[in-house]
Amino acid sequence: MSTQRAAVILAAGKSTRMKSKYSKVLHPVGGRSMLAWVTSLARTAGVTRIICVVGDGNADVRAEAESLGLDIAIQEPQRGTGHAVLCARDAVGNFEGDLAVLYADTPLIEPDTLANVFGALAGDADVAVLGFEAEDPAAYGRLITEGDNLLAIVEAKEATPEQLAVSFCNSGVMAASAQHMFSALERVTDNNAKGEYYLTDIVEILRGDGCRAVAVMGDETEMLGVNSRPDLAMAEEAFQTRMRYRMMESGVTLQDPKTIYFSFDTEIENDATVGANVVFGPGVSVAAHAHIHPFCHIEGTSIGEGAQIGPFARLRPGTELAQNTKVGNFVEIKKAKIGKGSKINHLSYIGDAVLGEGVNVGAGTITCNYDGYFKHVTTIKDGAFVGTNSSLVAPVTIGKGAFLGSGGVVTNDVPEGALALARAEQVNKEGWAERYHKTQKTRKEKSRNGKGKST
Ligand code: UD1
Ligand code: CA
Repeated sequence: MSTQRAAVILAAGKSTRMKSKYSKVLHPVGGRSMLAWVTSLARTAGVTRIICVVGDGNADVRAEAESLGLDIAIQEPQRGTGHAVLCARDAVGNFEGDLAVLYADTPLIEPDTLANVFGALAGDADVAVLGFEAEDPAAYGRLITEGDNLLAIVEAKEATPEQLAVSFCNSGVMAASAQHMFSALERVTDNNAKGEYYLTDIVEILRGDGCRAVAVMGDETEMLGVNSRPDLAMAEEAFQTRMRYRMMESGVTLQDPKTIYFSFDTEIENDATVGANVVFGPGVSVAAHAHIHPFCHIEGTSIGEGAQIGPFARLRPGTELAQNTKVGNFVEIKKAKIGKGSKINHLSYIGDAVLGEGVNVGAGTITCNYDGYFKHVTTIKDGAFVGTNSSLVAPVTIGKGAFLGSGGVVTNDVPEGALALARAEQVNKEGWAERYHKTQKTRKEKSRNGKGKST
C-alpha cells in the first residue's frame, strides 16, 4: 500500500502589503480564493488530510478553510514558518505518512509538481524541497546543493555574498515524513536575523541525523507568491495564459486569446469557438461546436452543442441552453432552461423561466419575474411564438404552439394553440391629421402677431 499523504497549509500571515480588510489568501485568482487553489492542489496530488494554520485574527480565513473541509490549527502569535507548522502538530496527531508544507499565498503550483516532491520521498530522499531557478532571486531562501544532495536552505538575510549569488531558490514547498518533520522542528531555534523559527532550518537538522535531503526542480512560473495587488494581477495573468493555452491545445478556437478570460472550472469541448472579449465567470460548460460571439459575459451556465451566443449576451447563473439554441445581442438570461432550437435573438430579459423546444421569443420580450418580494416562473411550451415587446407577468404559462401578439402585457395563462392579444384595441380616426395641422397652424400665427404688436 502506498504511503498516506497529509499537508499543512500556512495561512497565518498578516497580509499587510495587500492593504485589504480581507486576508490575502482569500483574494481570488481565476474566480476562486488562493486558499482554495492550494487546497485543490493538495487533493489532486493525493493528499487525504489537510490542516490549515491560521492566526487568531483570521476569522475570514478560518471560515473559508472550514467551508473547504480543512482542519484548523491556530498559530498565535506568528513566530515564523517553522513555528507555524509546529502549531499543526496536535491536529496532525498520530498520522504516520508523508507530510507536505504548502503556503496559501502561492496559488499556481501544479499537482504534477507536488506529486514530484512526494515522489522524491518514495525514492531515497527523507526530505524534499521544491526549488526553482529564479530570474531575480531577491529575498528567496537559497538552496545550497552538492551533487544531488541538498545541504541547506539559507535565508537571504543570513546569506554570505557567495550564497546570495546562488539563483536556485526555495519555493516554500517541502515534504518529509510527519515523524522527521516534527522531530526536526522541535530542535529549530529563533537564533537568526529575523528572530523567527525558520521551517527551512530542518534541512540541516535532518542531515545531521543522517537523513538525505534533495531539491526537486520546478518552473518559476508556478512559484509566484502573492504579497501585494501587483503580485495578484501577475498571478491572474499567469493563470489566464495557462488556461488559454490549455483550451487551444484541447481543440477550442479562441479568436483573440489575450482578450478572453476564464475561471478555474471553465469547461469547453473541442470545436467550440470563442470570439474576442468574452469573460467566463465560475461554473460554465460549453459543448462542442457552440459559437460564442464577441463581448459576452457568462457565469453559472451550460451551453449545448451547436448553440450560438451573442455578440453582447449576458448569461447568469442557472442558465441551461439546450442544443442549437440561439441567444442574440443584448439578451440577459438568468435561471432559465431553454429547450432545443429555441431562439431569443434580440434585446430581452428572460429570468426564472422554462422554455420548451422551438420557441421563438421576439425582440424586447421581458419576463416580469419579481413582485418585490418573491420570484415567479414563466413557462413557455414547445413551438410557442412570443411577439415582440411582450411583458410576461409571472407566474404565467404560454401553451404549446400559442401565439402572443406584439406589445402584450400577459397576466393570464394562454391555452395551447391560441392567439393572445393583451393590449388596447387600435382606434383609427379618419382625416384627423389634416384637421390637427389646420388648428395648430392658426394658433401659432395668432401668437406671433400678438408678439409683433407689443414690441
Ligand atoms: C519563505 C521561506 C523562503 C522561501 C519563501 C518562498 C522560511 C524561513 N523562508 O520566506 O526560504 O524562499 O518563503 O516564498 O520559511 N506564515 C505563517 N506563520 C508565520 C510566518 C509565516 O503562517 O509565523 C505563512 C505566511 O502566511 C505565508 C507563508 O507562511 O503564507 C510564508 O511566510 P513568509 O513570511 O512570506 O515567508 P518568506 O519570508 O517569504
Ligand atoms: Ca512570502
